[in-house]
Amino acid sequence: MDLSTVAFPVNTPKFWGNEQELVSKCIETGWISSEGPAVKEFETKLAARCQRKHGVAVANGTAALDIAVKALGLSTGDEVILPSFCIISCINQVVRGGCVPVLVDSDDSFNMDVSQVAAKITPKTKAIMCVHTYHFPVDMEPILALAKEHGLKIIEDAAEMIGQTCMGRPCGSFGDISTMSFYPNKHITTGEGGMVLCDDPALAERCQQLRNLCFDPKKRRFVHEDLGWNYRMTNLQAALGLGQLEHLEAAVQRKREIGRKYGELLAGCPHLVLPQDKNSKGESNIYWVYGVELPSSAPLDAEEVMKRLAAAKVGTRPFFWPMHEQPVFREMGLFKGLSFPVAERIARRGFYIPSGLALKDEELVEVARRVRKVMEEIGSGGYAG
Ligand SMILES: Cc1ncc(COP(=O)(O)O)c(C=O)c1O
Repeated sequence: MDLSTVAFPVNTPKFWGNEQELVSKCIETGWISSEGPAVKEFETKLAARCQRKHGVAVANGTAALDIAVKALGLSTGDEVILPSFCIISCINQVVRGGCVPVLVDSDDSFNMDVSQVAAKITPKTKAIMCVHTYHFPVDMEPILALAKEHGLKIIEDAAEMIGQTCMGRPCGSFGDISTMSFYPNKHITTGEGGMVLCDDPALAERCQQLRNLCFDPKKRRFVHEDLGWNYRMTNLQAALGLGQLEHLEAAVQRKREIGRKYGELLAGCPHLVLPQDKNSKGESNIYWVYGVELPSSAPLDAEEVMKRLAAAKVGTRPFFWPMHEQPVFREMGLFKGLSFPVAERIARRGFYIPSGLALKDEELVEVARRVRKVMEEIGSGGYAG
């Protein structure tokens, strides 16, 4: 097939085989809502895969984080330490719940700079939120030590690291509460979806209540003692998730293959800093995305390069925009005068290129060819097609 005129979206999900049958079964049996049996099965199987005792399936990864923050009882005045460079989902309930978000910068791995955390701990600190970002897990060892020393809770956002490990343990196994997302660009997708993972049965029960409007099975129905959300996952979504989970290892392997192939094909490409395949601890990049950065010597910022790649029909996404630079928080008077140089730099210089699980090898070769061409032409006045 002639790929020269094909447009490549930044993500294309992959269905491995059993999904259609499992979803059809929901329709045949009439079990489509959150009451259906696939929800429990998906929770049990993913929790076991992450070495957790409990999984609570929810509507999306943002919902999982909302629930995590509220289930831990974090509220007015409690300080929560988290990276500025993350998706707004991480901070939503921290702010809405009246907590004080305390930001730290990132390091060159794009994860939170763990060396900055200790200095931010005060008597009001109640939790640290770790957000494994793009390629590698957060360095959990010092975080676990700090949490133990100061009696802090850990919220672990493992949305991008389903199937990744840290210190030989699965990501999703580190938090007092850990969260996942199953958006179509994740290693497992349910269209929209997420999960809360934990070991404490009381905490799991609290999460179940919060996802279901705080209906209390011990009380008369429609009588509520607290406010929750309708963040339930449907049986249809869970069935899709079960089909996807059967192939998690293959998905992780394929993502790593895609990352390594790009690494070979883009080696030496002008104006691009490519991701490392292993970090200093010897952990393997999971390549949730293939995130690249423009060095300071590059004459253009990421926005302009992404425009040129769009003209070459290569889909891209910019990196996150730091929380301390969000208009919504400026308007609220938060983070005044704060500056996080690494977060600010990578937000302006970073973007990622197509690496969805359905991307074929020959397509990847064509994407890499176009990326190289665009980058080579930057010095000579624009992309000619
Ligand atoms: C690290 C991280 N956390 C949370 C989310 C939010 O997940 P969702 O889109 O399912 O709400 C995402 C989404 O991509 C994410 O990357």
